[in-house]
Amino acid sequence: MSFSLHPITPDFAAEIGDINLREPLSEEEFTSLESAFNTYSVLIFPDQKLSEKHQMKFSSRFGPLETSIQKFRKGVKLRLGPKFADVSNLGPDNKLLGEDSERRLFNSGNQLWHTDSSFMEIPAKCSLLYAKSIPPVGGHTEFVDLRAAYDALPKKIKDDIKGLVAEHSIRESRIKIGYKEFTSDEVSSMPPVPQVLVRNHAGSGRRTLYLASHAARIIGLSDKEGKALLAELIEHSTQRRFVYIHRWRANDLVMWDNRNTMHRGKPFEDLRYKRDMRRTTVRDVASTCEQEGIHP
Ligand SMILES: [Fe+2]
Repeated sequence: MSFSLHPITPDFAAEIGDINLREPLSEEEFTSLESAFNTYSVLIFPDQKLSEKHQMKFSSRFGPLETSIQKFRKGVKLRLGPKFADVSNLGPDNKLLGEDSERRLFNSGNQLWHTDSSFMEIPAKCSLLYAKSIPPVGGHTEFVDLRAAYDALPKKIKDDIKGLVAEHSIRESRIKIGYKEFTSDEVSSMPPVPQVLVRNHAGSGRRTLYLASHAARIIGLSDKEGKALLAELIEHSTQRRFVYIHRWRANDLVMWDNRNTMHRGKPFEDLRYKRDMRRTTVRDVASTCEQEGIHP
């Protein structure tokens, strides 16, 4: 291993030092990094100076990159390339988004607990978020360890939720924050998708919950029962003991595993300060139902 690894928590978050992500990774470095990522779901690479190209190249070592859903949204001009989710508060002109900006409202959905792209049939394996510039106060990202949260569930609940499948939809999380601007084309092109509630984490072999604010209902349960169960599991999982809070420094690249975590962005004075954050997202290998051998 040619980089250094500094655990922040025993088995959830770690900082990786002595590595320059502008340089191509050797096979040995890649294997060691993947192995670290199977143990630690959140890896922090401080002090990296990355262009869009560098970030895409490093990210694509872990699998094929998603194309941002923003690209498919009508009338949206992109500030970054199509392989980037623009998590900033900036418009295509690099100026702060205004108070009434539609994208500002849409992006505020990132403040709900979620895992990236669970509303897509094949969701995200991992995300890599680069902090080009950050506000002086606020704007932290919180990560929850869903393997630890699953382990801590009472056996009765583990038995009850075994084999359950939830429906996830981007509309669900945006409705929760009052966003209603989807066109009928967008609604029909992004139907709800089934995702298992409990999955096996391929890298570690550990069981994990798979949850997000995108989850709207649970197949086979009434709306009321499904929503109550989802709310109960999210409340259990987001207890402080399962959460790592990342306080960003400029030039941090943070990579997290969407298969066994949830995250949310914390507010900051977004009408006053720039927060230029760029996310690349690596697709998983198959839908969660297919991976678990469940056919809803
Ligand atoms: Fe996210």
